[in-house]
Amino acid sequence: MQNLKLKAKSYQGIIDRYKRYLPITDKTPIITLREGNTPLIYSSYLSSVVGKNFSVYLKYEGLNPTGSFKDRGMTLAISKACEGGSKAVMCASTGNTSASAAAYAAKAGIKCIVLIPKGAIALGKLSQALIHGAKVLAVDGNFDAALELVREITAKYPITLVNSLNPYRIEGQKTASFEICDDLGRVPEFQIMPVGNAGNITAYWKGYKEYKAAGKIRELPKMLGFQAEGAAPIVRGHIIKNPKTVATAIRIGNPASWKQAEAARDESGGLIDMVSDKQILQAYSLLAKKDGIFVEPASAASVAGLLKLTDKGYFHSLPIKKATIVCILTGHGLKDPDRAVNTVKNPKVIKPNLKSVLKEIGY
Ligand code: F0G
Repeated sequence: MQNLKLKAKSYQGIIDRYKRYLPITDKTPIITLREGNTPLIYSSYLSSVVGKNFSVYLKYEGLNPTGSFKDRGMTLAISKACEGGSKAVMCASTGNTSASAAAYAAKAGIKCIVLIPKGAIALGKLSQALIHGAKVLAVDGNFDAALELVREITAKYPITLVNSLNPYRIEGQKTASFEICDDLGRVPEFQIMPVGNAGNITAYWKGYKEYKAAGKIRELPKMLGFQAEGAAPIVRGHIIKNPKTVATAIRIGNPASWKQAEAARDESGGLIDMVSDKQILQAYSLLAKKDGIFVEPASAASVAGLLKLTDKGYFHSLPIKKATIVCILTGHGLKDPDRAVNTVKNPKVIKPNLKSVLKEIGY
C-alpha cells in the first residue's frame, strides 16, 4: 500500500517491525499511521518512591498517532478487514477505540460506525471520531449495552467488529510487550496497567509468553492490573450494572475479556486490584508535575496502583532484592482537557501591565 512505496528506512509501524510474530501474508494490505515505537521513560521520582533498587519505567502509549494504545491493534484489525474485502467496520467505545477505528478506517477508505455511551466520553475522543468521518451514534446506555448491540449487528450484517473481541486487535496490541523487552534488553519483573474491557492485559500477556517461547526473554513478568473502584467487576467478582468513575475510558461493568484477564493474573502470579477516583486523580497530577507526562485519568490508574502497592509494602514483601517495574500509560492527557482544567485552578485575570505581572510572579 501507499506507505510501503516509501523506500526510506524510517520506522514503518508495528506490522512492519514485528511481522514475523503477526498473522499477515504478502497479500495483507498494510494500513498504518506508523503506530508503536513509543518511548519507555525512566521515572527517577517514582523509582525513589518505591525504594532503593527498584526502577520504574513509564511506557508512554499516549504518543501513538491517535493518542492511545488502540492504534497498535487497529492497524492490524483494519489491515485484515481490508484483506478480507470488508467495506465497513464497527465498534462500541468509551472513546479511544472509536478515535483509532475512525482514523484507520479513513486511511483505508472504508466506512466506520461507532456506538458511544451518551455523554460519557471525553471531548477529545469524540472530536477525533467525528472529524475522521465516522458515523457516530450516542447510545442512551453504558459501554456494555453499546458493545452488546455491536456484537449483534456485526454477527448479522457484513460489518467487521473492531473491538478487542476481534483477535487481530489483541495480536497488534501484544507488540507493546515486545517493545518493552527490546528497549530494556530483558523482561521487567512487574508490569502495571489499567483494566477496562480487559483486551490490553490479555494482549500484553500473550506478547510476553510469545517472546519467551521465541527465546527472546527468559522469564515472564507479574501482571498487575488496576480497575477503578466504581467499575471493578473483576475485583468484586460480579458484573457492575452501573459503573462509575472519573476515568471514563475504563468505565466498564462487564469486560469482554474477563476470563483472559484472570488467566493473565493467575498464570503470572500477579493481581488485579482497584484504585479510587481520588487515587487516580492524585497519580494523574503527580505524573504531570513530577515526570512532565500528561495522561488521561484512566492511564493514571497504573501509577495509582503502583503507589497503592508501595504503600501496602507489596514489593518489599516479595523475595526479591531489585526489580524493574513498567507502568503502562495508555492514553494522552489532551484527550480529556476538561479534566485537567477542573483539577487545577483557572489562570488569574490581571491588568495588561508590567506591574501587575511582576506582582503576581513575585519579582
Ligand atoms: N486506558 C485507556 C486510555 C483506554 O481507552 C482503555 C480502554 C483502557 C485503558 C483499558 O483497556 O479495555 O483493553 O482493558 N478503552 C476502550 C475504548 C474500552 O473503547 O476506548 P482495556
